[in-house]
Amino acid sequence: MTVKGCEPFLQAYDIDVNNGDTILDALHKIKDVQDGTLSFRRSCRSAICGSCAVNINGAPKLACKTQILPEFEKHGRLTIEPLSNFPVIKDLVVDFDSFWEKVHKIEPYLTPKESSAKTKDKDGFWIIKKQDALKIDDVSNCIFCGSCYSACNTMAVDNQFIGPAALAKVWRFAGDVREGNNKKRLAKVSEDHGIWSCSRCVECTQVCPKDVKPLIAIEDTRAKAIKAGIKDNAGVRHVESMVDSVKRTGLLDEATMTVKTLGFMRSLGIIPLGLKMEFHGKMPLPNLFKSIKGIEEVKKIYEEVEKKGSRVKAGTHPKDGWGS
Ligand code: SF4
Ligand code: SF4
Ligand code: FES
Repeated sequence: MTVKGCEPFLQAYDIDVNNGDTILDALHKIKDVQDGTLSFRRSCRSAICGSCAVNINGAPKLACKTQILPEFEKHGRLTIEPLSNFPVIKDLVVDFDSFWEKVHKIEPYLTPKESSAKTKDKDGFWIIKKQDALKIDDVSNCIFCGSCYSACNTMAVDNQFIGPAALAKVWRFAGDVREGNNKKRLAKVSEDHGIWSCSRCVECTQVCPKDVKPLIAIEDTRAKAIKAGIKDNAGVRHVESMVDSVKRTGLLDEATMTVKTLGFMRSLGIIPLGLKMEFHGKMPLPNLFKSIKGIEEVKKIYEEVEKKGSRVKAGTHPKDGWGS
């Protein structure tokens, strides 16, 4: 519960439930019978509008799609809290303003290639072939419930991060063959707090109730940005220095990677973090850094990959695989 002027606190309620009742049913029962002040959002009650997302036993879920009994059997309790990474307005109601600002910032609409006659049919409608539509099918299913934003580890430490929902929406248009504004769109999300800030923790993909797979969308967008030649940013430099480090030594040479990624001057600012990592054995000193035993095998793998070209092409991720 959140009450103006009070620290947030948990409030316990006892209710009778029937098999098949959802968390949203329980919230309604509490509000109707026990506590009319309890605040929460809902609209469709059918997992369509996205408004009822809350943390249920620590994970973001749609209250109208989550049944009480299986959840209780699994955890032995039912703790319902507001989404994380959003300011709380009252009880389970959170403030979506910054979420929507970020969605608007990525220009979530198609800017069709005016010059391409192929993308218009005889009646003047913008058309897309089925195989091309399938590449953006998953991301088109987003209902903006905010569950991914709540679970996102990058968001927890960087509130300027665009976030998984808006970035998935970027792929909705960047991956559309009719889009004519890709260079600008991709350049914009390649800046700080965009596609390269994602730490690839997969939480967004795991919690999404609509199987949108934001992480795959982010990876597809990264691949497309590189292909479009948008490489002058810390994200691409980090990836390239990582590839180079493993090829050279078989390990991640964190110190050298940092200098290559951020440049010398910006790297000075994170010396305290480097010392902390060093102290905890997480960053071997670069001058003591030796290649691993069997580095020749690693080099052979690189040679094979370089011969065959990149395994992953933009928009062609296997459903359950992760490219880079
Ligand atoms: S990507 Fe999934 S979890 Fe994120 S807002 Fe869209 S539907 Fe919700
Ligand atoms: S994979 Fe990236 S966008 Fe998704 S939750 Fe993790 S850090 Fe956030
Ligand atoms: S009430 Fe609409 S998604 Fe739950």
